[in-house]
Amino acid sequence: MCGIVGVTGDQPALPVLLEGLGRLEYRGYDSAGVALQSGGALWVRKRAGKLSELVASVGDAPAGATAGIGHTRWATHGRPNDANAHPHTDCGGELALLHNGIVENYLSLRARLEGAHELRSETDTELLAHLMEERLADGATLADAARSILREVEGSLAIAVVHASDPELIVAARRVSPLVAGVADGAAFLASDIPALLPYTRDFKIIDDDQIVELRPGTLRVTDLDGAEIEPPARRVDWNLEEAEKGGFPDFMLKEIHDQPVAVEETLRGRTTADGRIVLDELRLSEDELRDVDKVFVVACGTSYHAGMVAKYAIEHWTRLPCEIDIASEFRYRDPVLDTRTLVVGVSQSGETADTIAACRHAKRLGAKVVAVSNVVDSSMAREADAVLYTHAGPEIGVAATKTHLAQIVALTELGLYLGQIRGTQLPSHTKRLLEELAEVPDRIRSLLTDSAKEVERVASQYWQTRDFFFIGRGVGYPVALEGALKLKEISYARAEAYPAGELKHGAIALIEPGVVVVGVATRSRVHAKTLSNIEEVRARGATVILVATEGDEDAASLADHVFWVPETAELFSPAVDVVPLQLFAYFVAKRRGHDVDQPRNLAKTVTVE
Ligand code: M6R
Repeated sequence: MCGIVGVTGDQPALPVLLEGLGRLEYRGYDSAGVALQSGGALWVRKRAGKLSELVASVGDAPAGATAGIGHTRWATHGRPNDANAHPHTDCGGELALLHNGIVENYLSLRARLEGAHELRSETDTELLAHLMEERLADGATLADAARSILREVEGSLAIAVVHASDPELIVAARRVSPLVAGVADGAAFLASDIPALLPYTRDFKIIDDDQIVELRPGTLRVTDLDGAEIEPPARRVDWNLEEAEKGGFPDFMLKEIHDQPVAVEETLRGRTTADGRIVLDELRLSEDELRDVDKVFVVACGTSYHAGMVAKYAIEHWTRLPCEIDIASEFRYRDPVLDTRTLVVGVSQSGETADTIAACRHAKRLGAKVVAVSNVVDSSMAREADAVLYTHAGPEIGVAATKTHLAQIVALTELGLYLGQIRGTQLPSHTKRLLEELAEVPDRIRSLLTDSAKEVERVASQYWQTRDFFFIGRGVGYPVALEGALKLKEISYARAEAYPAGELKHGAIALIEPGVVVVGVATRSRVHAKTLSNIEEVRARGATVILVATEGDEDAASLADHVFWVPETAELFSPAVDVVPLQLFAYFVAKRRGHDVDQPRNLAKTVTVE
């Protein structure tokens, strides 16, 4: 989820690029860079760290440069350092390219280009610069070379390129990753996000998938993969800067809830083959090492712990390995039985949570193999672990985790399927079918966000003053109940307890009385009928019942005062869908209560103390 800015006109480009990048700072990044056209040559500067590091380093930039491109990077391939920052250049330094997205066929491209080019970074992006270099050497124009990138490269990408031989031209291309362009006052502008360009224009052309845009001072030309010219849709934006940063949503949390289908898609990207196998090349543990594992522990805190609970169900079911889940802050102190055949999976969106880091270190000391699941490249956990599996949710700004949670569930289920595949505990045809199901999850979330959000808001407006909530679920519905309750506590400050639905009658049912709201996760599963029996028990004691239920399930509806309908999803993937209405419920209750949902009281995004 990098930021892109480009400008070509008759005024100095550098201030426009730096201001635009500054306006993208809210999205989070780890390094930044610019490339400027300077009298038939390119001037490139890149720095790891805050934008201020880049700003401090551009004192010697060519003052008269009127065209250039700039970038803030959120690392996906390679650590955040100067070399890996964008733009990347071709061998001769004549072409500079920057990129937002992930190249899926990175390994095969790297193998092909390695001998023929001088590779100076660990990134997938640099490969695109060298690919374009080859096309230009064959006589292609810059736009045609960008077209061939769209043809040859698998994955998500928005790229912007400049070449020393054509000082006024910027070429950009897009597939999946966003790109907008605009023209104003004799200049043409390009960005990944609207806020970067708001000081210059409010009229944007939205560049679509598989389109190429050529920018020259005051003009834009958009073409398709065949080179045919097209007129992209225009959009006028009336948002102020703050609204624009949030993509038009009132809060980052709501924006991030709506980002979830893309977060899931990006986390799945490049990890499955056409014939239905899962590939986790980045894992750095050999198949033999993973075959040798005889026990798995998942360690995590908070929302990451709830994703880990889903993983426990999935890993045990698909691999028949025993899998324990531990709250990271408890793990070391209970003297867990670990040895060299134990696999410990540390789950943390930030990769900096002190308790989870300590748990992983403890596991390593006892000889276990440690895999980190993190959303931040090169985080402490990722660096220290034997292997790392990244989630690709992009930066999450709201303190309450949402899109990183869904990405964790997906990454962990990928890990479970992979273990099942290499250990031979799953039939290839079964894995293939499951991967096809998993690929459906983003669209299920999309349809739910479109169809159910209004009803969730309406129900929240009825119960926002309720004092006591209980969340119940069975099987993988239990971690969903835990996460629903945690979200509600974190941002609305309501009392919300989560229980395995069958456990309620062993004590907490004493608290159920009229006025209490019970939220049940009751989607179709092997324990569906039993969950409904537990719902009957709370209804009989006068609770108001809200159910998350599978579309069309009239049995569930007959027991509920309100239903949040969700599309049917394979049981072990269902938490990634079923939790979404509960995130929305917490959001709408908190908003009704007048709270700041992005920065709830007493909480920090990253908890670096034990
Ligand atoms: O960065 P991590 O995933 O390790 O963070 C773990 C918890 O601190 C975090 O999930 C916390 O519970 C969030 N506030 C949840 O919304």
